[in-house]
Amino acid sequence: MDFFSTTTLQSRKSADLLVVPFWKGSKLAEVAVEGSSLEKLVSDPMDTQDFKGSEGEVLVHYVSGQPEKRVAMLGLGLQAELTVEKLRRSYATITKLCNKKKLKDINVLVPKCTSMAELDVIRGLSEGLLLPNYVFTALKHDALKEGKPVLLETATIIGATKSELALANKCATLCESVNFARDLINGNADDVTPQYLVAVAKGLEKTCKHVKTTVFDKKRIEKEKMGLLLAVNRGSFRDPAFIIVEYKGNPKSSDRTVVVGKGITFDTGGLILKPRGGMETMKDDMSGAAAALGCIHAIAALELPINVTAVVPSTENSIGSKSYKPGDVYTSYSGKTVEVHDTDAEGRLVLADALSYAVKNLKPSRIIDLATLTGSIIIALGDEATGLMSNNDVVADLLARAGSETGERVWRMPLYEDYKDQLKSDIADIKNVGGRPAGSITAALFLQEFVNKCPWAHLDIAGTAYLSEAKRYTPKHATGVGIRLLVSFLESLS
Ligand code: BES
Ligand code: ZN
Ligand code: ZN
Repeated sequence: MDFFSTTTLQSRKSADLLVVPFWKGSKLAEVAVEGSSLEKLVSDPMDTQDFKGSEGEVLVHYVSGQPEKRVAMLGLGLQAELTVEKLRRSYATITKLCNKKKLKDINVLVPKCTSMAELDVIRGLSEGLLLPNYVFTALKHDALKEGKPVLLETATIIGATKSELALANKCATLCESVNFARDLINGNADDVTPQYLVAVAKGLEKTCKHVKTTVFDKKRIEKEKMGLLLAVNRGSFRDPAFIIVEYKGNPKSSDRTVVVGKGITFDTGGLILKPRGGMETMKDDMSGAAAALGCIHAIAALELPINVTAVVPSTENSIGSKSYKPGDVYTSYSGKTVEVHDTDAEGRLVLADALSYAVKNLKPSRIIDLATLTGSIIIALGDEATGLMSNNDVVADLLARAGSETGERVWRMPLYEDYKDQLKSDIADIKNVGGRPAGSITAALFLQEFVNKCPWAHLDIAGTAYLSEAKRYTPKHATGVGIRLLVSFLESLS
């Protein structure tokens, strides 16, 4: 979707719908444009009880003699209580309505709000329009029979200044990266294989400036002695891949953030097979990888003056006669030995090798990893927040702030030393599971063993990466979580 602007209400072009903002109490919001003859366009809703102006409430009516056939009165709630997040939620209802009615072009009036900077209003409004504007149809014949689903194509912001329009289009670029990640996650696990992720990573090098992609194939992974990635891969007929995508937007600086993404393209659980009902969504187990690659996609498109390297250890966790075995001990890239107590705790194994590779070879100033790591985080936080675990308060606080700014909320869990006892092994340096209590924390403590002293944060996105039903401004299935969060975090570093 593209944004345009027009300076006056009179000069707006024809469109399918005009969006007019209202505060709670059905008060027409003052809008950022002169010469408004808005009262003529919207009937006085005070007369009826049909429209109250509550957050996200919409009332559509039909008008004649205007550039649009329809006017949508959009409720934003109380002006004094407005937030960027509330704007996202409210404007999302417009996109959902347009998608349903197959409307492509809208004109949008921007509310003038005394309690919020105009650019923040534009940000909330744009993201609210953009984020739900997505549908995955690649595998659905019915969708084509009914006529291709129609998405919003243009939004003209009436009275937007140059910088406001630029911000709206920046949000659009960012959301394209979110959709890039969603497509990867929603795709069939049999299509989106480690080799497919390799091709995508190589594609980034081709299409983006300042991007260099390096891929380790199975032979090289063996040579590097990434024993945990190799162990997880053993049950799969597909080779593993270790992908490194480097974006150098500030070659003069030695600062570098490494983003590691779990790239399990399908998680059967391995020999400790997942039960019926526990496996059907496991094509989403590469959502961390999609976020890491999507992050490079975004910062390269925005040409941010920073250095970021994405690292993706990728394999299926399949089952077969060559599968790695519960109870056996495998040696990691770091040299530490790991007792594999549970083959379904494979994410932390491939991440461990990636984290220690990054620490040893990539000179990271900080490492952030994203992973659909534990069912336990879903029990703790549901799908409303990503679990955050970190050895560094500065990084954790910046991530938490980025979370509340973007609406991709994160909630920090403690990494008390005492939990580590749960990972003690009788026969190896460490065990890959610590039992059911504090399952997300012991998973993170396992990872922490492989980052040495490097500032590090782990984001457990098992609950937030994939939704069975659409929610507010997020479509169903892959959410693309992590990209807006990371970009906001990375921007806050400089
Ligand atoms: N990929 C799963 C975690 C997961 C569960 C992601 C549900 C999304 C939705 C991970 O590999 C896993 O199976 N974790 C186990 C760990 C356990 C064996 C310690 C889990 O959470 O049950
Ligand atoms: Zn698993
Ligand atoms: Zn997994």
